[in-house]
Amino acid sequence: MSEPETIWIIGASDGIGAALAREWAQRGARLVLSARSQDRLEDLAAELGPKHIPLALDVSDRASINAAATKMSQITPIDRVVHLAALYDPGKIAELDPDTAAQIVTTNLTGSFHVAQVAPPLLRVGGQLALCGSVAGYIGLPQGQIYSATKAGVINLAESLRAELSDRVDVRLINPGFVDTRLTQRNTFEMPAIMTPEAAASAIIDGLNTQRFEVHFPKRLTWGLKLLSALPYWAALPLTKRLTQ
Ligand SMILES: NC(=O)c1ccc[n+]([C@@H]2O[C@H](COP(=O)([O-])OP(=O)(O)OC[C@H]3O[C@@H](n4cnc5c(N)ncnc54)[C@H](OP(=O)(O)O)[C@@H]3O)[C@@H](O)[C@H]2O)c1
Repeated sequence: MSEPETIWIIGASDGIGAALAREWAQRGARLVLSARSQDRLEDLAAELGPKHIPLALDVSDRASINAAATKMSQITPIDRVVHLAALYDPGKIAELDPDTAAQIVTTNLTGSFHVAQVAPPLLRVGGQLALCGSVAGYIGLPQGQIYSATKAGVINLAESLRAELSDRVDVRLINPGFVDTRLTQRNTFEMPAIMTPEAAASAIIDGLNTQRFEVHFPKRLTWGLKLLSALPYWAALPLTKRLTQ
């Protein structure tokens, strides 16, 4: 029988990350669970069993990421690093607090850069590094504002890493549609094709077990948005306006 995988989930305390942790634990993986909330990580690790390790960190703080990477270097080899940590603050541009906007950029985009820099030396050769974008990164959506822009940045980062690290790291990009978590519970519009975190976790695990670079779901939403983003702006932008009304 093959060795159980060791997987580092960053953003594991809630939402999609916690659902992924439950699903992977059930499939026998050993997990390192990261987010900022130590207590919630400890509760989750206790729920999943003694082999799982809570490791609190803040992806927006390089010193915190470095300290976590030092601890991770004692656990190697790591089979996968799946980075999901992100912040979201929907609203119109005029209403967005500049400090919150800066925190969203530092967490979502700079945080992905930090993880992309520390993860490769921790991974076994051929191990997987998955970054999380969003369909909101395909094309700017009204009220996505700074969040959508950071997700477009994460998509671009993953694309460049896929080529740059291809000799030793299997870089992947996860682009979910709408998933019912605390992140989207603040949306005031009707979210098309919204999924449960459990269904999203299954789609992610299935996708990461294929050879495809991008894991995107649900297909009935993502293919439509891909098509939309391929249109000329004069045709696409009036349509995006309708999506969030
Ligand atoms: N939900 C959706 O519809 C949707 C759609 C497309 C993409 N996504 C993406 O999917 C990923 C997971 O989203 P979700 O819906 O599961 O959100 P969520 O329920 O809010 O979970 C976000 C996770 O990130 C952690 N986190 C936030 N800031 C952090 C920081 N600075 N350092 C470390 N951990 C941090 C949170 O834990 P702590 O608060 O304890 O730190 C939590 O565990 C995100 O990248 C999101 O952009 C979600």
